[in-house]
Amino acid sequence: MKALVLSGGKGTRLRPLTHTLAKQLVPVANQPILGYVMNHLMEAGIRETGVIVAPETQEEVRGYLGDGRNWGIEISYIIQDRPLGLAHAVKTARDYLAGDDFVMYLGDNLLGSGISEAVERFEDSRAECMIFLKEVEDPRAFGVAELDGDGNIVRLVEKPKVPPSNLALVGVYIFSPVIHGAIDSIRPSWRGELEITDAIQALMDSGHQVTGEILDSWWLDTGKKDDFLAANTTVLDEYTCRRIDGQVDQDSTVEGRVEVASGATVVRSTIRGPVVIGEGARVENSFVGPFSSIGRRTCIKDSVVEHVVILEESEIEGVVRLEDSLIGRNATVRKPGGLKGSLRLMIGDHSTVEI
Ligand code: DAU
Repeated sequence: MKALVLSGGKGTRLRPLTHTLAKQLVPVANQPILGYVMNHLMEAGIRETGVIVAPETQEEVRGYLGDGRNWGIEISYIIQDRPLGLAHAVKTARDYLAGDDFVMYLGDNLLGSGISEAVERFEDSRAECMIFLKEVEDPRAFGVAELDGDGNIVRLVEKPKVPPSNLALVGVYIFSPVIHGAIDSIRPSWRGELEITDAIQALMDSGHQVTGEILDSWWLDTGKKDDFLAANTTVLDEYTCRRIDGQVDQDSTVEGRVEVASGATVVRSTIRGPVVIGEGARVENSFVGPFSSIGRRTCIKDSVVEHVVILEESEIEGVVRLEDSLIGRNATVRKPGGLKGSLRLMIGDHSTVEI
C-alpha cells in the first residue's frame, strides 16, 4: 500500500496567510497540518508516499517534509503544474502509483483518529474504493453521499446546491488501481476540475464495489479563519500535555496543560492552558489565555491574548486584549502607549498593525 498526499492547489480560502505559505503548512497547535497527515500514514504502516506539490509552494513543502525520514517514510515529490482537480492529481501520479493500492490523503484535512484500522479493513475487503463520511451541518462546501435504506452509497455529488444528505466526504480515500480507468472516463466538472467524486461515481456505475465508513472521530477541513481557529482549539484541547522545557521565572504562573518549548522564556506573565509556546518564543509581562498557539521566536510583551494563533517570529506589544485572531509570520501588532478594548484580527505574514 502506498500513499498519495495532496499538497498542491491554491489555498485561496485562508488568504492572506496562504499568499505566502502553503495552506498544508499552516500550523495547528504549532505543528503543520501535513505533520498530522504523515503521523497517520506512519501509524498505518505506509512506507512509500508520493507528495503532490504545486510549482509555487513545492520548495517550502520539501523544506518541511524532506525525504520523509522523520516518519520512516520514503517520499517522492510529484509536481502538478496546475491545480486541475483531485482526480487530475492522481493522474499526474499514475507512474508513481503503478499497480499498487493507495491511500489518498488531502494535505489540508485534519482527522481526530488514525487510519490504520480502515486500511486493514480495506485490505480484507473486496472493495475497489473506501471513502469516509462525516455528518456536517452544512454539506454544500463538500462532496456529499446519498445512501439507500440499507446504508449503501448510491450517489456522490460534489458541492451540491441542494445536498441529498448531511454526509460529507472526508478528505481520505483508499483505492485499488481500478480508479485509474475510472479517471480516464470522466470529464472536467462545471468548476473546470477533474473531480475524484465523479471518478468514484464512475466506479460504482460500472459495478465496482465502493464502501463508505462513517468517521467516528472529529474531522476538520481547515478552510477559513473560524474553522482554522476551531481546529486549533480542538487539537490543543485533545493533545496538549503539561511540559515545560523552556524558562519560566518566579514571577510567572503557568496553569494547566501548557507546553513551553525549549529556548522559550516566560517572564512576569500568566499562562493559562491549553496553550503551546514554540521554541525561542518570549512572553513578558503578559497574559496568554486558553486555546492559544504562540509560534517559534514570537514575542508577546505587555499584552493580553486569548484564543489566538500567532505564527512564528511575530511581535505583539502593548495590546490589552487580542482574541479570536490569526496572525501570520513576521507580523507586528503594536501600541506603544497601551490599548483599551479588544481586537479581532486576521493578518498575513510580514504585516504591521500600529494602533
Ligand atoms: O476536504 C474534503 C473535501 O475535499 C471533499 O468533501 C470534497 O469532495 C473534495 O473535492 C475536496 O474539496 P475541496 O474543494 O475542499 O478541495 P481543495 O480544492 O481544497 O483541495 C484539497 C487538497 O488537495 C488541498 O490540500 C489542495 C490539494 N489539491 C487540490 C487540487 C484541486 C491538489 O494538490 N491539486 C489540485 O488540483
